[in-house]
Amino acid sequence: MALLSAQNVSKSFPGVRALSGVSVDFQAGSVHALMGENGAGKSTLGKILAGVYRPDGGEILWEGKPVRFGNPRDALRTGVAIVHQELLFAENLTVADNLSLGDLPNNGPWIDERAMIDRAAAWLAEVGSNIDPRVRLGDLSVSKQQLVQIAGGVGRGAKVLVFDEPTAALSNVEALRLLDLIRRLRADGIACIYVSHRLDEIFAVCDEVTVLRDGEKVGTRAVADTSRADLVRMMIGRELGEGVETAADATGAVRLRVSGLSSRGKFSDISLEVRAGEIVGLAGLVGAGRTEVVEAIFGLDPHVKGTIEIDGKKVSPGSPAEAMAAGFGLVPEDRKRHGLVLGMSARANISLPILQRLAKSGWINDRQESSLADGYFQRLRVKAPSQLTIAKGLSGGNQQKLVIAKWLAADANVLLIDEPTRGVDVGAKAEIHALLRELAASGKAILVVSSDLPELRTIADRLIVMREGRAVAENSGRTEEETIMRQMTGV
Ligand SMILES: Nc1ncnc2c1ncn2[C@@H]1O[C@H](COP(=O)(O)OP(=O)(O)O)[C@@H](O)[C@H]1O
Ligand SMILES: [Mg+2]
Repeated sequence: MALLSAQNVSKSFPGVRALSGVSVDFQAGSVHALMGENGAGKSTLGKILAGVYRPDGGEILWEGKPVRFGNPRDALRTGVAIVHQELLFAENLTVADNLSLGDLPNNGPWIDERAMIDRAAAWLAEVGSNIDPRVRLGDLSVSKQQLVQIAGGVGRGAKVLVFDEPTAALSNVEALRLLDLIRRLRADGIACIYVSHRLDEIFAVCDEVTVLRDGEKVGTRAVADTSRADLVRMMIGRELGEGVETAADATGAVRLRVSGLSSRGKFSDISLEVRAGEIVGLAGLVGAGRTEVVEAIFGLDPHVKGTIEIDGKKVSPGSPAEAMAAGFGLVPEDRKRHGLVLGMSARANISLPILQRLAKSGWINDRQESSLADGYFQRLRVKAPSQLTIAKGLSGGNQQKLVIAKWLAADANVLLIDEPTRGVDVGAKAEIHALLRELAASGKAILVVSSDLPELRTIADRLIVMREGRAVAENSGRTEEETIMRQMTGV
């Protein structure tokens, strides 16, 4: 029998039906995800299960018997605790005070301070934490405050824990630790209800998943029998149109070959290959040396050692002019500083690296420049009022397209792209991904640095992970996000 069930639960807020007739069973020793797009009703269901809201219709069952939770304390007495998205504890009180709110251990008429602290420490130890119960809650990091909430629930004997988007405010490392803790709680027989819209977390820790859409239940599935595509389809109610297909096996010739590339204090012994038709991603934390590597390949590091070859020909390191002539193009991290001349027109930015080719006896042929720009505007779907619009006035996505256009016009065959969609809105992001895919399909070799791991997994055929200046792993683009995160952090 299910430990906790929602049966036909409905809830309305003024003007919104947040849940209509939703039924879900939650089992002991299992992690059950509640998924859905923003506004689907996930948090509302979580709060009803934990006594924060009362349902307008339907019932909550505990071990098959109807229960009514008037408030979160009722729910906790039965065995359900919630770890809130926004922290609701008193920041000015100590950890021990917070963990004693509502039931102070007493010694006759006196509050037993010592017992309070000892009990808090014991509860924290149960969730693997050694936070000092005497510190002010507000002085702890968000992840530690969250641990205090979990300790409070587990310590009071909760058998069901509701987590609402628990990793939203955590760093990668903290998120991985939380997932490990959730696995431990599950092993102790606790039912975890995990509200999230992050697919990777669902596959990393959840056993079952219920998808909500517009307040209705779409379905419940065993995670092991479900694919990402299934979940996305359930969440959005249609196929994912913008899904960019990655080329399965790039079989083109090696265009970029780097071996034993080192630069003191920045990175060491980096070797990699990118074939025509292939997109290779460089993943890693900020400071891992990814940007330094692509800059060195482009000739911007005068101290670099090792060999760099393009289409089988060596280029001497430390010379951007030679790198450009050989066919390298760099789309830098900070396009506003290094990728574009912001005060010049969109058109002039495209033709910058090939001015010489266009210039006849010192003059740029205006018609040539214009038709060149036209071609790239169309091919890359640049949206600008005109070719003569100043680059500064364009959106981030269109600026980025200009930088790419500039290198295409220069016939670059190996594109080094650092943070392709930083500061670019969602629609333009999908377009840039499709564009990179198209360019690879046309025979370019592309090396991409991105801090957006889902982005890298979408566009890259292979992923090289860097940590502290070294390449520590190589993966297919399909490798789970959690695996890559562990390689990035060395956890
Ligand atoms: N306290 C509230 N008052 C009014 N409307 C609310 C309240 N809580 C949620 N809603 C509405 O109910 C719907 C479901 O919200 P919610 O459960 O927070 O969704 P989710 O957590 O899936 O993003 C949304 O349309 C939201 O605006
Ligand atoms: Mg929510």
